[in-house]
Amino acid sequence: MGQTYQEAIENSNIVSKTDTRGVITFVNDEFCKISGYSKKELIGSNHNIIRHPDVSKETFELLWKSILSKKPYKTTAKNLCKDGSTVYLNTTITPILDENNNIKEFIAIRYDVTKEVELKIALEKKDEELELLNKTLEQRVSEQTAQLLELNQTLEQRVQEEILKNKEKQKMLFWQSRMASLGQMLANIAHQWRQPLTELSLTMFNIKKSAKNDNKEKLNQYYKESLIIIENMSQTIDDFSNFFNPNKVKEKFFIDIAIDDALLITKKLLEREDINTNKDFEKIEVFGVLNEFSQVIINLIQNSSEAFNINHISEKIVDIKVYKEEEYVLISYSDKAGGTDNLDKIFEPYFTTKHQSNGTGLGLFMSKMIIEKSLNGTIEAKNIDDGLQFLIKIPLGD
Ligand SMILES: Nc1ncnc2c1ncn2[C@@H]1O[C@H](COP(=O)(O)OP(=O)(O)OP(=O)(O)O)[C@@H](O)[C@H]1O
Ligand SMILES: [Mg+2]
Repeated sequence: MGQTYQEAIENSNIVSKTDTRGVITFVNDEFCKISGYSKKELIGSNHNIIRHPDVSKETFELLWKSILSKKPYKTTAKNLCKDGSTVYLNTTITPILDENNNIKEFIAIRYDVTKEVELKIALEKKDEELELLNKTLEQRVSEQTAQLLELNQTLEQRVQEEILKNKEKQKMLFWQSRMASLGQMLANIAHQWRQPLTELSLTMFNIKKSAKNDNKEKLNQYYKESLIIIENMSQTIDDFSNFFNPNKVKEKFFIDIAIDDALLITKKLLEREDINTNKDFEKIEVFGVLNEFSQVIINLIQNSSEAFNINHISEKIVDIKVYKEEEYVLISYSDKAGGTDNLDKIFEPYFTTKHQSNGTGLGLFMSKMIIEKSLNGTIEAKNIDDGLQFLIKIPLGD
């Protein structure tokens, strides 16, 4: 059974008809199905029953203008269903004319494109989101880049600052070490000056006495003695400035000569304190600075002299031996002054068992420093019999 042209359209489309004022005169089943209204509700109602509030007044003005001028109007219309849902309908409204060429009615043929439109809207939304994301991403990247740039700059600056700080630190350290060796030098000089200062004041007293007694001969003798003491004191300054000088001149010297020098310098002390020295020297050469080694012996003699007094020992004997053993010179220095209970500490700087005015505790520290640093040797102490023995070992100078 064949269908009419009209039937064919109606079956596949949403069809409605209105009069010239827009009042619905006909709807097909598809129209009812999609709008949710019954035929009864629709027929006689104005077509704007399915008008969506989103659609602007201008759109309708355009629509009416078009169809009233007898032209068909095509649009994808957003329509409102009875249940409040939205449908998109591809719509063609065609004015139907009578035989006098007047508008008789309007026929609207639609088909549902909701899915496509919604898809399109969703896509557009996604596009927008993407674009936004892109934009914010771009912005964020440029922000991060700026931050990184700044960080880089401040980093560079900080590195520069740290380098500068480090340089300053190094300078400080350098000066600190300079000051430390300077301090040590002063302490050493002060230490070595204590004895000659005492000698000097004694000699000055004798000079005064001789002048009073008009004893020219004695006066002259004490004057000469004081000159020797002062020269010795001046030599001490040179010796220690030299000791801290990295470019100091070392040369070969005989150990026995250095020891005799020390005994000469301490001659007055030895005489006054009635100390006897037993010498047993081999003639052996080492490499270094003679005066420095003399200072070591002076320190040992001074300590012995003090120990004899502290321990009230009347028979004051010091034994000094110089002999060869393999590639070393050995210098054995011993006294019978009672020894010490502090063997493990006596070489430490500032360790002293003496009253503050009599000892700073630098003598043995200084001696050890000279033996180790300047002569490349070793110094050890041990208690023997009733006294203390020092054993100094220095590599041979040839
Ligand atoms: N021959 C010795 N007999 C006994 N004890 C000694 C002897 N030599 C050193 N000592 C002990 O070792 C300590 C350290 O001696 P060191 O020469 O280093 O310092 P000091 O003599 O006390 O003071 P300074 O020498 O600075 O005036 C002495 O205080 C003393 O207790
Ligand atoms: Mg001492």
